[in-house]
Amino acid sequence: MAAEVLHGLSLPAKSIPPKYFYDAEGSRLFDVITKLPGYYLTRIETAILRDNRDLIAGRVGTGACLVEYGSGSSVKSRLLIEACRPAAYVPVDISRDHLEQSAQAVFDGYPELAVYPTCADYTTPFELPSPAATLPRLAFFPGSSIGNFEPAAAGAFLRGVAQVVDAGGWLVVGVDAKKDRDVLDRAYTDAAGITEQFNKNLLANINAAVGADFDLGGFRHLAVYNELAGRIEMYLVSQRDERVTVAGTEIDFAKGERLHTENSYKYAPDEFVAIAEQSGFECVDILTDELAYFMVLLLRAR
Ligand code: AVJ
Repeated sequence: MAAEVLHGLSLPAKSIPPKYFYDAEGSRLFDVITKLPGYYLTRIETAILRDNRDLIAGRVGTGACLVEYGSGSSVKSRLLIEACRPAAYVPVDISRDHLEQSAQAVFDGYPELAVYPTCADYTTPFELPSPAATLPRLAFFPGSSIGNFEPAAAGAFLRGVAQVVDAGGWLVVGVDAKKDRDVLDRAYTDAAGITEQFNKNLLANINAAVGADFDLGGFRHLAVYNELAGRIEMYLVSQRDERVTVAGTEIDFAKGERLHTENSYKYAPDEFVAIAEQSGFECVDILTDELAYFMVLLLRAR
């Protein structure tokens, strides 16, 4: 983590990977975000899954090994578990505490379900627990977390998932759609300042995890929709000239300088389908809401 953070801070346009948002406090703040009035993503995706659970179950069948990428979404996992009755559940998450809590909660709710929490960075290859090897596989990547990847990296990620689920296996993936700038702005900047706290918590996590002295009060939250690139960009903007020591290295920020903390890509349906089809999947269904704000795609590995 120290090496990755220092690398990002040494670039001319400073950046830090968004996976470092999710320490215990970051995961808690993200849960609060999902309940904010302007953050439509979680509510709409959950409704799409609820409204289409019979269709999804009819496609993917029962008795699969459900592999969930990122385990921070227990309501959605439960919907899929109740619809598809998997034989095994493999939540994969980078945060061990969060993983163990959510895996335990699922296990308590479904004592007959074999749960294999797997602590891994799913942006790199990882081993599935051996009982999964003999079951048909259903991958679940909700929340539009795939929007954190650059489009080319999303394709590479999907190629890896296609290998994990094997030919004939399924991926249910949530993808945020392109839409009016106003709606996106309200989703990524809230009046209560929760998204700002979430963004700044990245600095608190770095302070604690790699040894740094970021002053959270010296930075301001900024989220902008870059329509040309099709993504929300989040930054922390330095409010003054300041010097920060990170893992023993001094880093200078100029007043007004931006630290890039996240990209959240938004896709038109055909754009995402094209990436999926170039990455070893066939698109079987695109499920959406009446405003077409969010999509849940059912993809089958070729
Ligand atoms: C968890 C990556 C899907 O991009 O909407 C929420 C993270 N950032 N508010 C998103 C996030 C600011 C979220 N994802």
